[in-house]
Amino acid sequence: MSDERTPPSPAPRPPEGFETPLHVGQLNLPAAEAFREAFDGIFDRRFFANHGPLEQRLDRELASLFGVRNAVSVVNATAALMLVLRALDLDGEVIVPSFTFPATVQAVVWAGLRPVFCDIDPQTQTLTAARVAPKIGPATAAVLGVHIWGRGCDPLELEALTASRGVKLVFDAAHAVGATFRGRRFGGFGNAEVFSFHATKILNGAEGGCITTDDDDLAARLRTMRSFHDTDERVPGLLRLNAKISEAQAAMTLLGLRSLDSLIEQNRHRYELYRSGIDGTPGIHFLDYAAGETSNHQFIVLSVSPAELGLSRDELLDLLQAKNVLARRYFFPGVHRTPPFCDEGMAELPITDHLCQTLVQLPSGQAVTDADVKRVCAIIRWAATPEGRMAARA
Ligand SMILES: Cc1ncc(COP(=O)(O)O)c(C=O)c1O
Repeated sequence: MSDERTPPSPAPRPPEGFETPLHVGQLNLPAAEAFREAFDGIFDRRFFANHGPLEQRLDRELASLFGVRNAVSVVNATAALMLVLRALDLDGEVIVPSFTFPATVQAVVWAGLRPVFCDIDPQTQTLTAARVAPKIGPATAAVLGVHIWGRGCDPLELEALTASRGVKLVFDAAHAVGATFRGRRFGGFGNAEVFSFHATKILNGAEGGCITTDDDDLAARLRTMRSFHDTDERVPGLLRLNAKISEAQAAMTLLGLRSLDSLIEQNRHRYELYRSGIDGTPGIHFLDYAAGETSNHQFIVLSVSPAELGLSRDELLDLLQAKNVLARRYFFPGVHRTPPFCDEGMAELPITDHLCQTLVQLPSGQAVTDADVKRVCAIIRWAATPEGRMAARA
């Protein structure tokens, strides 16, 4: 996962910890003045929700960003997943990874469908056509892939597979705002894709999400289903939900869109700084991104090899947390090990289990300065020294 470089020399003595906790989340905030101005507009119009002007503008701007015919903004990505699975009028099973945020799998159940877990590729950490193909059976209604860390499942091979087997294909692209596959932005693959604008994501709407699709009929169904408020294009006879985005969320997301390119650039800079500070440390491996693709570098993900580092992933985490670096083990445990999914026997997913035991996410986002990154790197380099290992085990 990482290239072999000479590690920067370890810190001679234990590096200082942080006085206040350093979190993993992004929390990219717009300028307060711009937000106040947007809110003044909402107050002046006295229009807070229900297909307001900001919701409509957001749908247009998102469609243009993702290069699709339709973007349907909603209250969050969990509701977006529930809606799209329901709007596709499915019945039966949905093939999903377990290495994901619980919402991916729980949405399947909320939509009245049965999740079937599929293990992932150890390199890309996503579903692949080769792994999904044997799981497709007569009860399969859809495949729900996850573009984990903004690195895509290969959408083209999954599109070919699902088309040939007559099942639908949806992507949970909660992590993938602005990321590309073969130079094309995620958003237009499969039957639909779902994005999150939660405060921990690169595009922060406080809460928010959207569904993107080139299928106009599906989009009309989704626009009807996201709200009880009728518009001219209402499709009759559909189950509906109060999942509409508020004008306040739409305002915040629109402001984030203005600086998306610069946020991606800042994240890339932090990622490279982390790499140059830690690469070569024994037992610490960085997630690689395919050359020529854009990533949003929303997450800084390391994999720990305990045999090389001399510490387990959890011992490293304890040491970081003692220094107020609130790095996380994400995702842990695999969704298949949580109720209700483990209640009727545990799916065998060795690669998922391995990743759940070995991955670490480091702090990133606007609040994390270059000096912070350098200090976190010094702590990790120190953890790989005999003194650091001893301290971690004390
Ligand atoms: C992969 C994935 N899917 C779905 C979600 C749910 O997103 P939201 O919080 O917008 O409902 C998340 C949230 O972190 C996620 O990481």
